[in-house]
Amino acid sequence: MSQLNVGLLGAGRMGAFHGESIAKRIPEANLYAIADPFPDTAQKLADKLGTNIKIYTEPLEMMKDPAIDAVIIASPARTHANNVIAAAENGKAVFCEKPMAVTVEEADRVLQVVQEKKVPLQVGFNRRFSKGFKSAHEEIVAGKIGTPQLLRSLTRDPGLGNPNIPEWTIFLETLIHDFDTLLYLNPNARPVEVFVMADALVRPDFKDKGLLDTAVVTIRFDNGAIGIAEANFQAVYGYDVRGEVFGSEGMLQMGSIRESSMTRYTKEGVSYNTSRYDQDLLFDAYVAELKSFVEAVQTNKPIYATGEDARSALLIARACIESYKLNQPVKIENGVLV
Ligand SMILES: NC(=O)c1ccc[n+]([C@@H]2O[C@H](COP(=O)([O-])OP(=O)(O)OC[C@H]3O[C@@H](n4cnc5c(N)ncnc54)[C@H](O)[C@@H]3O)[C@@H](O)[C@H]2O)c1
Repeated sequence: MSQLNVGLLGAGRMGAFHGESIAKRIPEANLYAIADPFPDTAQKLADKLGTNIKIYTEPLEMMKDPAIDAVIIASPARTHANNVIAAAENGKAVFCEKPMAVTVEEADRVLQVVQEKKVPLQVGFNRRFSKGFKSAHEEIVAGKIGTPQLLRSLTRDPGLGNPNIPEWTIFLETLIHDFDTLLYLNPNARPVEVFVMADALVRPDFKDKGLLDTAVVTIRFDNGAIGIAEANFQAVYGYDVRGEVFGSEGMLQMGSIRESSMTRYTKEGVSYNTSRYDQDLLFDAYVAELKSFVEAVQTNKPIYATGEDARSALLIARACIESYKLNQPVKIENGVLV
């Protein structure tokens, strides 16, 4: 089978990691081109990753390149929907970092074009490819812990660098992972009610500029289960992603902040090192999601983490924004906020 020719859109932090995975970790794929509006950014990454990688400064031009089979979108969140649509209109398979879109209307437009053009679309919900979360999903589907009653998913980022971030980032870009995780761990259930409490506790001085860096979200599902998602942008001890599902017949826990299985025993006590970056803690999951995408495109296998999954998680994020503005619970009926 010939290698899948991939065009990478966005050569920032996440794009650099995905570009390296395509160039060096996934032999079935070839990093054919990189597009970034900043030519130096794209060129620097290309120089690091190989020879003969084509550079584009106009993302839409890359989409038209007939040699490209698939596009990875790792540009800023608010450009995703238009970029997915452009890629799909050019017949490319698409891997899009989360969120797929920032409004439900945009998400519906994306899904419509993707369906019309019949192109595969995967969204970057990497926790579905992290071994612990994947095993938990399989156990829940097999009924090992009975009916889910309480679910929990949390993300604590290691540090808030620049507090000048786009409004609602905590819901649209961070907790969106947790919303997808809760949906993944409560299969076929749909959210019916969402309530959020959020604040700027890390940088209170930026709250009036729209920063929220701490949030707890309560979600009621139509199967009766109640879920909690929580996030904070500054965990001093490292990058922390964990989950738990409590069911009628038992409980499952996922995630560990350990950097390795080594435990240190000294006169000070017992300790271990922690992962400091998402790309360390979830390294295997980031590579596995791209491997799965490449294989699905090459062999026509099903996509895990679909555009429909992305819309479902986004709907909860939008409900959070409404709930925060109103300071009251928000209801969801038949896939729309009411
Ligand atoms: N799955 C995860 O765990 C995870 C982790 C980090 C980031 N992300 C997501 O990845 C995306 C990128 O985040 P990042 O941290 O790499 O950001 P970044 O700012 O480091 O990189 C973004 C890059 O996109 C380029 N760019 C800007 N506008 C563009 C456009 N219109 N088309 C193409 N490129 C454009 C920028 O020049 C920059 O090089 C975001 O959606 C973010 O939410 C996902």
